[in-house]
Amino acid sequence: MSKFEQIVILTGAGISAESGIQTFRDAGGLWEDHPVEQVATPEGFAADPALVHRFYNLRRAALSTVAPNAAHKALADLQARFAGEVTLVTQNVDDLHERGGSKNVIHMHGELLSTFCTACNHRWRQETDLTVETQCLACQTQGGPRPDIVWFGEMPYDMDRIERALKRCDLFVSIGTSGAVYPAAGFVQLAHVHGAQTLELNLEPSQGSAFFGETRQGPATQLVPEWVHSILA
Ligand code: OAD
Repeated sequence: MSKFEQIVILTGAGISAESGIQTFRDAGGLWEDHPVEQVATPEGFAADPALVHRFYNLRRAALSTVAPNAAHKALADLQARFAGEVTLVTQNVDDLHERGGSKNVIHMHGELLSTFCTACNHRWRQETDLTVETQCLACQTQGGPRPDIVWFGEMPYDMDRIERALKRCDLFVSIGTSGAVYPAAGFVQLAHVHGAQTLELNLEPSQGSAFFGETRQGPATQLVPEWVHSILA
């Protein structure tokens, strides 16, 4: 039986890299091709909504060309079989955790398959392209709908719930994230000061590696199943 009772897991782009989704900050990553201010800020959307829609339409369409990998599946297995509580928080906007079998995933940076209306706040699942002509399903405002993505300068979702889980967990695990973006980058310290053990699983040392009690380097498809196996053993 595991010595842990409450585990919080934070995932980032690195867990989906081996499924074929580009990370943000690795060479050739998403932000290398696109200025962040243009495609990931409310100001960028106001200045050129068509360009922003195109950027996220491409990402949304690409979801149908990728599949969950062994790391996503291992976390789903952990959620299903761990006797205690597992809180899975992701910064990723893809749906690979869900397609890998995970339940109750907290998408703190939003989801590509969700849209909301800036006019009336109605939210819905959106699998097809958005354009400046798209009408809100509820209030019919044209141009109201925008990708349900948390952009820079906006508040990540479910922070109260995440902070409560971090304060009571006894193990915090960070997988495939560069530790470059707050508040997610600060989760390790919050969990640590409340007494949790902390573990980083990443291809290389991240910006936040020094804050972790233990770090392991390698591809997520290898490290995550190994770690899950050890917890369930
Ligand atoms: P990054 O692109 O910043 O970092 C990805 C991390 O994954 C890097 O540290 C890589 O070394 C690591 N990595 C790459 N391939 C890996 C593999 N096969 N196995 C394990 N690790 C691997 O992505 P995030 O940290 O997720 O926010 O970025 C955080 C946020 O920045 C994103 O959610 C996004 C972006 O701005 C928003 O869009 C709001």
